[in-house]
Amino acid sequence: MIEVNLGEKPNPRQQEFFRAKYRHIAYGGSRGGGKSWAMRTKFILLAGRYKGLKLLLLRRTLPELRENQIKPMQATLAQICSYNESKHEFAFPNGSVIKCGYCDSESDVYQFQGQEYDVIGMEEATTFTESQMQFITTCNRTTRSDFKPRMYYTCNPGGVGHAWVKRLFIDREYHEGENPDDYYFIPARVYDNPVLMRNNPEYVKTLEALPEHLRRAHLEGDWDVLAGQYFPNYRREKHTVEPFPIPQDWKRFRSIDWGFNDPCCVLWHACAPDGRVYTYRELYVRQTLARDVALQILQLSGQEHIDYTVVSPDMWQKRGQKDIQGESIAEIFTTNGVPVIRADNDRMVGWTVMREYMADAPDGVPYWQIFSTCKNLIRTIPLAVHDEHKVEDVSATCEDHALESARYGLMSRPRPNKIRPEPQPIPYSPFETKRRVRSGFFDV
Ligand SMILES: Nc1ncnc2c1ncn2[C@@H]1O[C@H](COP(=O)(O)OP(=O)(O)OP(=O)(O)O)[C@@H](O)[C@H]1O
Ligand SMILES: [Mg+2]
Repeated sequence: MIEVNLGEKPNPRQQEFFRAKYRHIAYGGSRGGGKSWAMRTKFILLAGRYKGLKLLLLRRTLPELRENQIKPMQATLAQICSYNESKHEFAFPNGSVIKCGYCDSESDVYQFQGQEYDVIGMEEATTFTESQMQFITTCNRTTRSDFKPRMYYTCNPGGVGHAWVKRLFIDREYHEGENPDDYYFIPARVYDNPVLMRNNPEYVKTLEALPEHLRRAHLEGDWDVLAGQYFPNYRREKHTVEPFPIPQDWKRFRSIDWGFNDPCCVLWHACAPDGRVYTYRELYVRQTLARDVALQILQLSGQEHIDYTVVSPDMWQKRGQKDIQGESIAEIFTTNGVPVIRADNDRMVGWTVMREYMADAPDGVPYWQIFSTCKNLIRTIPLAVHDEHKVEDVSATCEDHALESARYGLMSRPRPNKIRPEPQPIPYSPFETKRRVRSGFFDV
């Protein structure tokens, strides 16, 4: 029998993590609580306990996984098995395999398509988007009778996945098809980790000295502070409306963020006479040829009169996609009945314009309203976070296809009014009032 030195006795939270047998088990909160240690130790214990178990350990990027998990596992498992660099896996003598993987870009999850793992661990789960998590969950299945599939998550507040982790494990708000009894959360505290407290007491001091909102997130593990959220004023109840028939005379236009492997997002917008923009329809598809997207757009638009379609400038690049044969995506759209114009792609100005549209008009309703049927747009706005290196920009790691499409659309409109709310009651709609002032209706 080979003895493995796994480290010190697990702390009470780590013991709880080891004992939990739910379908989805999250261990999260404060930094440094011993979550990653618990994840890899649980994986090693499971691989040793069940013969032929298939485990997948994921982190957003491979270099991070190597530093944080693969290297310490190599040290722990030195007497048992070695790490296969090309297969990215530890193959145990009992047939169990721990595969190490990453999902750097949105489409990297498809490398796991059709694969089956009894156990999947997502390290730093809040760095994964919700659709990556949903896809990965489809690979967590088994044909074994002695083991039910399990997902493990370690996480800290903040990041692109903050909203879904919080929804499932903290707020416990579930969608159709999600069983509340499947989700179990173990809060992590740095003070629970005696190894760190003893060996690196400065680390806790560093956390204690962080600015208020970061301290609350990283030391106290407070999930209500979303450090780095790009659109903190976005509220689903304020910015979304139930669909209503758009009047014939409202100006309509479309915006497209093109993608083939990444999603392609088409949005339909309408301008009310008072200038308020309503985004009333969404098409969100991936791996669909440009010609087919154009046909779907025409079908969905029906008899509507669309003034123009503004699209990502990269649609003019000639690409090596097989249906293109030298034509740009923009040309394919145009020849298939969707003439397009190039969007203003100034990102910083564009995000500012979006924020302005999200602000309240003087009547207390934001200048931009989204129909509740635009699911992907509604889902991804709150997930936009600041870029770590260029803080004024949205991070490229976010699922930003609907955001970009909305940005192109709103950038094609005049900037919303910046009139501050008038004292109540307002005699006319504020847009109307301004027009009347301009046209000399009021003697001011
Ligand atoms: N039971 C244990 N035995 C030995 N070492 C441990 C134990 N628990 C935690 N540690 C060590 O404490 C340190 C911090 O733990 P770990 O990296 O797991 O924390 P974490 O919660 O994942 O941190 P972060 O939030 O930064 O990801 C590491 O050096 C880890 O090896
Ligand atoms: Mg960790």
